[in-house]
Amino acid sequence: SLSFTPSSTAAGSTDLTALLDDNIKLPAGYTYEVLYRTGDPLVSTDPLGNPIPAHYNGTDYTANVPAYPASSWQYRAGDHHDGGHYFGMNAAGKFDPKATDRALLAINHENIAGTAQFIHGIATASITSNPRADITVGAVTTTAADQVRKEVNAHGVSVFEIRRDTTTKRWSVVVDSPFNKRYTAGTVMSMGGPAAAKKYFVTKFSPTGELTRGTLNNCAAGYTPWGTYLTCEENWPFYFRSGPNATPVTGLADGKGADKNQGRYLRLARYGLGTISGDASQFTPSVGSEKFWSTAGTTDEFARWDVTASGTTAADDFRNAANTFGYVVEIDPFDPSAVPRKRTAMGRFYHEGAWLGPVAEGKPIVYYMGCDSRNEYIYKYVSTKNWNPADASLGILAGDLYLNDGTLYVAKFNSDGTGVWLPLTRTAVNAALGNLPGPYNGLSFNDDGDVLIHTRIAADAVGGTRMDRPEWGAVNPKNGEVYFTLTKSSRRTAITAAGQTQGAFVTTPSGTAAYSQDRPVYVDPANPRSYQDVNSAGTGTGAAQNANGHIIRFAEANANPAATAFRWDIYLFGAEIRNTAAGVNVSALTAQQDFSSPDGCWFSPTTGILWIQTDDDAYTDVTNCMLLASVPGKVGDGGPVTIGTGVGAVNTFKGKNLSESQLRRFLVGPRDAEITGLMESPDGKTLFINIQHPGENTGTSARAGTSVSSPSSSWPQPNTDPKVGNNATGNPTGNTFPRSATIAIYRNDGGVIGGDLVA
Ligand code: FEO
Ligand code: CA
Ligand code: CA
Ligand code: CA
Repeated sequence: SLSFTPSSTAAGSTDLTALLDDNIKLPAGYTYEVLYRTGDPLVSTDPLGNPIPAHYNGTDYTANVPAYPASSWQYRAGDHHDGGHYFGMNAAGKFDPKATDRALLAINHENIAGTAQFIHGIATASITSNPRADITVGAVTTTAADQVRKEVNAHGVSVFEIRRDTTTKRWSVVVDSPFNKRYTAGTVMSMGGPAAAKKYFVTKFSPTGELTRGTLNNCAAGYTPWGTYLTCEENWPFYFRSGPNATPVTGLADGKGADKNQGRYLRLARYGLGTISGDASQFTPSVGSEKFWSTAGTTDEFARWDVTASGTTAADDFRNAANTFGYVVEIDPFDPSAVPRKRTAMGRFYHEGAWLGPVAEGKPIVYYMGCDSRNEYIYKYVSTKNWNPADASLGILAGDLYLNDGTLYVAKFNSDGTGVWLPLTRTAVNAALGNLPGPYNGLSFNDDGDVLIHTRIAADAVGGTRMDRPEWGAVNPKNGEVYFTLTKSSRRTAITAAGQTQGAFVTTPSGTAAYSQDRPVYVDPANPRSYQDVNSAGTGTGAAQNANGHIIRFAEANANPAATAFRWDIYLFGAEIRNTAAGVNVSALTAQQDFSSPDGCWFSPTTGILWIQTDDDAYTDVTNCMLLASVPGKVGDGGPVTIGTGVGAVNTFKGKNLSESQLRRFLVGPRDAEITGLMESPDGKTLFINIQHPGENTGTSARAGTSVSSPSSSWPQPNTDPKVGNNATGNPTGNTFPRSATIAIYRNDGGVIGGDLVA
């Protein structure tokens, strides 16, 4: 079995000062290089011949940034690098998953929250105002409209060619490669999937409902057996302003009284595009508060971010614009001219990512997916068509065969360690509508498209298990077992009295009481903990919650990814070793292992290591976010465990405890950065990861007692060697701006990453 050798010196340490350095720390024998930073150009001139100047002048990023035209950001790395995938490429420029010296990387640019100020050339913590206002830096004024254009372009996906030097064995970006391409929140995309959905996509931009513009909040990712990339739209609702509607919207008014808008309001609110307080008529619209993009002008370029029904028909306005977001989006990295397709058959929610199940000829294509919000669900998609390897040559057209027609399921975790996949067919959902809570009870669906576009409501009806924020999934290539990180939840509550039902809302939904889907849910076997976070002294703070998250895993019946039953247990419980309260450090983590808020996770096919990444704010007063290496066991290798006592006791199932040779911290990142994205060269000798939003908490650093007026991080810049990017002193200096970036991790002896850690 796999185990770390005793000689390894993984970065985990009880040296708290070092763990808060503004730096990347790796085990002895490892190094890294910065590959692709926010703002780095992919081309030297744009299609009109205008030069795209280099972004980094050797000292800092502040010098020229405000003066770049907004359009230049269509050709630069976006912000908040997140999930991604390595696509090996052969000499003919075709997909070759085994290619080790030439590849296309596809990288998501999730967001600009907490860092938008840096791309406008200022250090202050927040640049958003309602309405958006001009920003002046020195002699340069950036209008509100140009700010929005830059921000739209800073979202989306980068596809770019990388090559490995045959002598140095180090990778670099091939600027001006014909494969280099940015997909932004303004790129034209098509709506794939059941025709029944098209009418819900009609906008002033696309009166036939076949097209939309842009992809948003691209979080984790996936890939297909035919060599295309899947980027997933997570927190897209917060970009849109909604209602109140000037015109009643027909077609979504079913069963909810005289006000024709009530059905629409319920659907909007279930996706965070407003809230319901009381009955369905009491709808408070959202204001697009994340960005206020709709406020920067009056033309359609800005009006597209407002889903108020202002015209007579849907083709007069953008009331349906938000219906075109929340999907798995397929991109063909090998064909920059191919229009990306939104795969609506895979459901609409806050898609974290899409993880491919084991692939076999003559069997369906299966994807595991999660909706990353408190009390949301884990899903599975099973294609109707069985896999024919000859289709691998079709590129994105293969996606039309396998990803436009299939069955969606939601996971239900039973208390006996079994689970079932509940189908979200219209027939099954209609039979369960009486289960819908509060004001949703009585709502019905118009057609299959309505069910798909409102997957969350369908899952409520059939009774999926509400989870503590599903982040990444990972499929063990050795046995097909599926892991999901459940990062944390501030809406998970302990049971304190008889009659409180595991997994149920804390208060009974009512048609007249204040109603929110995002209200507390009692602990249950699959989400069994609710406890106080602790500060760096180990003292409890705040309300009880799942403060540190856990990792659940399941084994499909008969190892068949299309099965409708599974067995599950909890692989690991996150915890701080300082938190000594009963029922917290359930996995008996040590100082070399303890972690909080698991997010990214990925199996190396070379070593079998399960890599785990964190995106945390409960433990960031003690340590920056991290990457851990773990040795997976299998479902059932531990046993039953009871968390809590008396009426509050929850019986659950956990994996075996892992020794320090089986679970170990491997990397600790710079300040206020999430560690995310995992890609590996097929020889296992380069691990690519993403450092997301260093310094995002400018002015309000999560680290206790720290208030900073300049960015809390300056990674990766104030260095003698920016290529290496190590800030040896660990302290930001001056008013230099941090950047998200893709880094490449190498072993100094050229060996397999983690290969010295496993026997
Ligand atoms: Fe974008 Fe769920 O993290
Ligand atoms: Ca994530
Ligand atoms: Ca804490
Ligand atoms: Ca993040």
